[in-house]
Amino acid sequence: IHSFPFFTLTDQLYVHNLDKQCLRCLCYAATSCDITLGCTAGYCGPYKISRLYWIDAGRLVLPEDDPERAGAFEDCALNLGCAQRMVTTYLSKFGKDCNDDNVTDCNDYLKINFNGGYQCTPKLDRNEAGRNWTKRFDVCHQLL
Ligand SMILES: *[C@@H]1O[C@H](CO)[C@@H](O)[C@H](O)[C@H]1NC(C)=O
Ligand SMILES: *[C@@H]1O[C@H](CO)[C@@H](O)[C@H](O)[C@H]1NC(C)=O
Repeated sequence: IHSFPFFTLTDQLYVHNLDKQCLRCLCYAATSCDITLGCTAGYCGPYKISRLYWIDAGRLVLPEDDPERAGAFEDCALNLGCAQRMVTTYLSKFGKDCNDDNVTDCNDYLKINFNGGYQCTPKLDRNEAGRNWTKRFDVCHQLL
């Protein structure tokens, strides 16, 4: 946790209940926010972002890059700031109450990032990967 990366909001997009701590803990849930990870099985970077997620978020790219360029998706997903803009944009579109507690907050954003925005309601404890995400998410909230 000592090397836990610090990052700041890089654009003006406001998403209800998506604060800095939530963005950090979504990153921590996915990979312990390991910014050295590449792509594995189609999921890239510290947030484990898929190409479809990138497309749904509007194909954001690094400054002056071109979304049509091969590698543009990967380069954005591997960059913490670019990935964070992607997550923020995605959640601005897909954010909703996924756990039926009548609020849309970071617990819902966790489910959306794990399950995808189209079908966010399945429980995270149904498989080991989901349990790991939840465990790290909880650890992150205890640490912050
Ligand atoms: C959420 O709102 C619905 C409709 O108002 C209500 O029936 C339900 O009990 C609420 N659930 C919780 C967890 O507050
Ligand atoms: C879950 O976490 C454990 C302990 O870190 C790890 O050994 C295991 O491979 C992880 N499983 C998945 C599916 O991510």
